[in-house]
Amino acid sequence: MAARDGVARRAAKPLALIPLPARVVRHQGGFTVTSATPVILHSGDPASGFAVRHFVATLARISALRLRVTTGGEVSARGAIVFRLDPGAEVAQRGGYALDVSPGGIDVVARTPAGLYYGGVTLGQLLTPDGERTASVAVPALHIQDWPAFQWRGLMLDSARHYQSVADIEQLLDWMSLLKLNVLHWHLTDDQGWRLQVPKYPLLTKIGACRKAVGPDAALTGSPGKPHCGFYTDAEVRAIVRYAAERHIIIVPEIDMPGHAQAAIAAYPWLGVTGKRPAVGTDWGVNTWLLRPDARTLKFVDDVMDEVMALFPSRYIHIGGDEAAKDQWNASPEVRAQMRRLGLKDMDALQGWFTTQVADHLAQHGRTAVGWDEVLHGKVPASTVVMSWHGPAGALQAIEQGHDVVMASSPTLYLDHYQSGLHDEPPGRPDVESLQDVYDYDPVPKGVTVAQAQRILGVQANLWAEYMPTFARVQHALFPRIAALAEVAWSPASTHDWRDFLERMPAELARWRALGIAYADSAFAPAFALSKGADGGIDVALTNQTNFGTIRYTTDGAMPNAASKAYGEPLSFPADKFTTLRAATFADDGFELAASRTQVVDAAALLTRNSDQLDTCSNQLVLRLEDDRPLQGTRPVYKVDIENMCWLWKDPPLDGVRRIALTVGNLPWNFALWTDEAKVVARAKATPAGECRIHEDSCNGPLLATLPLAPATKTKLQTTLTADIPAVSGHHKLCIFATGDPRAGLWAIGKIELIKAP
Ligand code: ACM
Repeated sequence: MAARDGVARRAAKPLALIPLPARVVRHQGGFTVTSATPVILHSGDPASGFAVRHFVATLARISALRLRVTTGGEVSARGAIVFRLDPGAEVAQRGGYALDVSPGGIDVVARTPAGLYYGGVTLGQLLTPDGERTASVAVPALHIQDWPAFQWRGLMLDSARHYQSVADIEQLLDWMSLLKLNVLHWHLTDDQGWRLQVPKYPLLTKIGACRKAVGPDAALTGSPGKPHCGFYTDAEVRAIVRYAAERHIIIVPEIDMPGHAQAAIAAYPWLGVTGKRPAVGTDWGVNTWLLRPDARTLKFVDDVMDEVMALFPSRYIHIGGDEAAKDQWNASPEVRAQMRRLGLKDMDALQGWFTTQVADHLAQHGRTAVGWDEVLHGKVPASTVVMSWHGPAGALQAIEQGHDVVMASSPTLYLDHYQSGLHDEPPGRPDVESLQDVYDYDPVPKGVTVAQAQRILGVQANLWAEYMPTFARVQHALFPRIAALAEVAWSPASTHDWRDFLERMPAELARWRALGIAYADSAFAPAFALSKGADGGIDVALTNQTNFGTIRYTTDGAMPNAASKAYGEPLSFPADKFTTLRAATFADDGFELAASRTQVVDAAALLTRNSDQLDTCSNQLVLRLEDDRPLQGTRPVYKVDIENMCWLWKDPPLDGVRRIALTVGNLPWNFALWTDEAKVVARAKATPAGECRIHEDSCNGPLLATLPLAPATKTKLQTTLTADIPAVSGHHKLCIFATGDPRAGLWAIGKIELIKAP
């Protein structure tokens, strides 16, 4: 009896809604929707028509429901789904809507088509509460009043470093709208590519839209000799803007200046300071090619802005301003003279003057400039919106100076940072910025008063694309962290609850699966930790990042399923056998949260490490980089400090080990280190090709092995080098480094194996 009461009293399963609505009140009973349930639209306005048709079409993709829309008819039809545009609707906030489910039917009411669109998104989620494609869905009775916490719910897409097709961008816009995100900040120009066609300056795209294929780009273009190219024509931009508008997304274009301008200067060298024509950039980092801050350049910028304003209806136009290294300006007598002529105290003030000229031109046309937070280093009009990426202090300063701000904090909202420490995670920047890191982000910095908070327009995540050569990689980086962002941006802070969010994720993942979104399962994926067991065997602990779901495993080579053994305590295996351990993670209802991962468990596994399992000797500029080869198929990924080719293995057991096998790869150097050049560690080579050296206890400790790199220079693929080592007993730290200068070819460790004497 007590047990049954317990079941009866158990909290109802959370409604699988992301982002969570502002207010939900649940009632007794419900309403069942089938494909025979009519959808009635009470509005003649085309945007409302689109909202409702989009609701029906999306539902058809992720469920078995095939609904039909009719317009007009009775306002309070029973047994129907009714969408109603009503200027007096109860939720007055911008983008808001109310949604009622009662035994009599479902009612979605909003004052604007945007509200109807978002109501449709919520209803779509209510009708797909799990991964089941049932032909009849019982929706619990409830009343939702919903509106966004922030009016700027953004995502920045970098199409300059790697180009995405129009179809891919439209796809992304559609998916953003299903999370109620409403700003796509489109980073269209940078050192490595100018992607916007400007008819008055045809060389911008004729020259500036192509760069030499570097690193894994060669795999993308098909050959190392084929450049990486791409730009968007007027017609394509107009189509994207229209597509976005239908989904209530504003496209905020960014033309980055005066830095990140190398591609523009490659097209028109007179835009630069030196008069020289650089190649379109191929090096990631801070390049020093700056626009010349003179009247001719400003005329060019005005022309470009006129084209931008003709193409993009957005009130906000982003004019960059970040990372404008002043080396060239400082070195130029003309620029220094210009600074003095204007009575400015330094080059930051000159950048402020330049930004002000552009912001004023935009303002004359009724537009508002947005700049990265470096624009605060100079004096710019208070009307300029500041995009805060350096953290809360800058945001506070901007607010105090009267600017509106958008919070886009690095590193938490920089989704080029990878989301787990798993070895199968795609390349990216450390440290890990996890799903929970994004979820826990608070767009309102501490110390901001209620009045000051009004200046925070909203929040956005930035997807820089240096390490995102394909749309699959973009999807992996965005999903699911973009869902956490959506909840931060839309749902009131009072509703935020991390564990509750996780409970709502399986249904969302099921929807994404139906939509064909290549989301990352990193937050749920099983990780294996091997250690020596007390009885001489091998212990394996299984964990996942979120500690959510049940990890299930097999040891017979079969793929784990929802009926496989559930992991509880660490597993023990004999050391003299070879076991294939496979594990995957499942939700309570059997939905696979993370695909199967495989670990071979044998004595050799305890004596093997990949680069993700090693520490780098320093933390100067660590990256996880993809090999440039093979051109087809999976390319290895290495964790490497690009300024110091050196790794540490903390305490490997060396008893009986007499040989070391080191698998290495060589990566092309394509980085701009700017002020970091002096920090590069270059070690003297003993042979022309250099060598890897392995030292015991520290990098200056006894030399255990020298592995010449010459054999590895004969191929672009990975090479395994081996060397005998003297007998050593006990556990000792190993330091492994490559000699030579990383800028002449970056060596990276794929794997190190310690081999015992037979
Ligand atoms: C930036 O990350 N350079 C805005």
